[in-house]
Amino acid sequence: MRRSSQWMVAGTATLLMVVMMFYNGMSPGPGNTSNIITPNSPSGQNKDSECHVPGLESIEQYRAYLHHAEVQCNNLKTFGGKPPAPDAGKKRVCLDDRFNIQPGNCVVFSFGVNNEWSFEDDFDKFGCKVYAYDPTMGKKDHQRSPNIKFMAKGIASYNGTKNIGMEKNWSMQKVDRFENLVREAGVEGREIDYVKLDVELSEIDFMQDMLFNSPHVLAAIKQIGMEVHDGPFKGDLSQASLYQVFWPYFMKMRCAGFRLIHTRETWGWREVLWGRYD
Ligand SMILES: *[C@@H]1O[C@H](CO)[C@@H](O)[C@H](O)[C@H]1NC(C)=O
Ligand SMILES: *[C@@H]1O[C@H](CO)[C@@H](O)[C@H](O)[C@H]1NC(C)=O
Repeated sequence: MRRSSQWMVAGTATLLMVVMMFYNGMSPGPGNTSNIITPNSPSGQNKDSECHVPGLESIEQYRAYLHHAEVQCNNLKTFGGKPPAPDAGKKRVCLDDRFNIQPGNCVVFSFGVNNEWSFEDDFDKFGCKVYAYDPTMGKKDHQRSPNIKFMAKGIASYNGTKNIGMEKNWSMQKVDRFENLVREAGVEGREIDYVKLDVELSEIDFMQDMLFNSPHVLAAIKQIGMEVHDGPFKGDLSQASLYQVFWPYFMKMRCAGFRLIHTRETWGWREVLWGRYD
């Protein structure tokens, strides 16, 4: 090739690259990630840029977070699980003044009842409105008491149906997003005093939807009592292991202002209580 035609080839290639870069920059298609990262997050709620999510390198790193309380609660109470109810029904609630949980003016959402009502009944007695959800009990929507409303639906990151169950009993059941359930309950826009989740890994659906799609609703929740179904560690920290799946959500919950108030092991699972500190 002669020198002048080599220059022409190089020049044409450069021009083509510049045109392609320009075209990609302008195109509104999926190549333009800025549209995907910053939708519908209300201003002031998106702290993504300040949220550092370190990679999870060891099980010790995971436990150093999840197995230790980060803040102290001076008035930690147990709701549910008093005999004859099983010990697994126990949930911790922090009644420190800073959370301002007022009998007669408080709202609780409870996911996963499994026909064991000790937690919901204790909050009823305390004087809160309780919205309880469980699609696996074979029970229809009903009012259990003036304060407790039951709905046969599960929690998910979308509105639809999902295969839900325990042990050998699984079936397709109705599910919906937390934000929709709050609206349906008629308590949209008010503070939610406590959310209980004992939902066999649907806690991941809840965290995903709240952190990415409903940060304004998450910011209205005072405490979250969650059964974390991460299971016994068998040496695997691959991306598909439950530890890797849970980890970034825990770090994002931290960025959203939630601090671990209490954490305890329960038959291979872990029950944690988060409070919002901001
Ligand atoms: C299985 O689940 C369905 C609803 O999800 C419920 O109606 C039924 O009672 C359950 N069966 C058993 C044996 O627990
Ligand atoms: C959820 O889906 C059901 C069934 O398709 C529909 O009737 C309902 O309006 C939906 N709810 C919301 C909030 O979109």
